[in-house]
Amino acid sequence: MKPRKRHVLLLWMLVYSGLTEAIEPISTTIAVGMAATLTAFLASYQNIFYHFHECCRPEWISFNRTALEVDLSRKLFGQHIASRIILKAVNGFMKNANPKKPLVLSLHGWTGTGKNFVSKLIAESIYKEGMDSNFVHVFTSTLHFPHPSQYLTYKSQLQQWIKGNVTNCERSMFIFDEMDKMHPGLIDSIKPYLDYYDKLDGVSYRKAIFIFLSNAGGDSIAQTALDFWKEGRNREEIELKDLEMLLSLSVFNNKESGFFRTSLIDKNLVDFFVPLLPLEYRHVVQCVMAEMKDRGVEPDQYLADKLAKDLVYFPKSERVFSVKGCKTIESKLDYYT
Ligand SMILES: Nc1ncnc2c1ncn2[C@@H]1O[C@H](COP(=O)(O)OP(=O)(O)OP(=O)(O)O)[C@@H](O)[C@H]1O
Ligand SMILES: [Mg+2]
Repeated sequence: MKPRKRHVLLLWMLVYSGLTEAIEPISTTIAVGMAATLTAFLASYQNIFYHFHECCRPEWISFNRTALEVDLSRKLFGQHIASRIILKAVNGFMKNANPKKPLVLSLHGWTGTGKNFVSKLIAESIYKEGMDSNFVHVFTSTLHFPHPSQYLTYKSQLQQWIKGNVTNCERSMFIFDEMDKMHPGLIDSIKPYLDYYDKLDGVSYRKAIFIFLSNAGGDSIAQTALDFWKEGRNREEIELKDLEMLLSLSVFNNKESGFFRTSLIDKNLVDFFVPLLPLEYRHVVQCVMAEMKDRGVEPDQYLADKLAKDLVYFPKSERVFSVKGCKTIESKLDYYT
């Protein structure tokens, strides 16, 4: 090879090797840059998606203790025992990062005293979407499980529903309305989910919340409230211990009650029995005023009194407690305005 040709070859080799070394980092940098941009884009897209679409994340599910406390004291009338138990129970459970079992509350009381209303307040303090959340599930015995003879079908559907939803989101809430009308076999079928299991078929139920609503025990709660009233004692003096014994006797020994014969009770799977007191005239007035506020109209004390006076109260002679609690206020207000 001639010296000139050799020089050209050498030069070419030098330039080429230099070029590739120069090009490689640039292309690598570009690729890395593109990947980073894509990742950032996907992450922000995902964040935007999570922002608008409810998912099982803290953006959508996080307990606001203050909100619950404020709601219970300002919106729930005449229920000092229930307010206290619920705030403590829900707060304690939600603060615990590693609960041993799901939270199980059983709310008892006369019609229209706020059982569904309280469940709504609890849901709103945990889920951004409140009762509209995809993670809050309501079952009503007479609606979802109307035929006792079909309870075996309901049982497998219910179990699959609970399992599927808790697999999807461990912070799921299940509300069982009209629990006293539920087939005992059906109640027993949800028992494993309420118990102290680490996992069942690979699913942990320990962060779920179960709320049972029923009228069972409402009579005896009302009787105690009436006794206090007759003795001239303040309603706020009624304590949980004044009701616990009566509640257990009337709920658990009652053949009409869905709790009857279920081992929910003797296995101590219900964490808190929450009594709701029957509502007095003054509470009904408060309900009417609140309803007016909700509708964006100026609360009218005269109208509230007029509406409250038109409701029926029991016992017949003393007329202390509203027979329907605050239940028919909404439709009555439509009529009066
Ligand atoms: N203690 C209360 N404080 C404020 N509002 C109440 C109270 N109780 C009932 N209400 C009002 O009355 C409406 C009906 O009450 P709710 O549905 O909670 O009654 P309930 O106890 O579930 O009755 P039922 O046993 O008939 O199902 C509620 O939506 C709420 O507006
Ligand atoms: Mg109800």
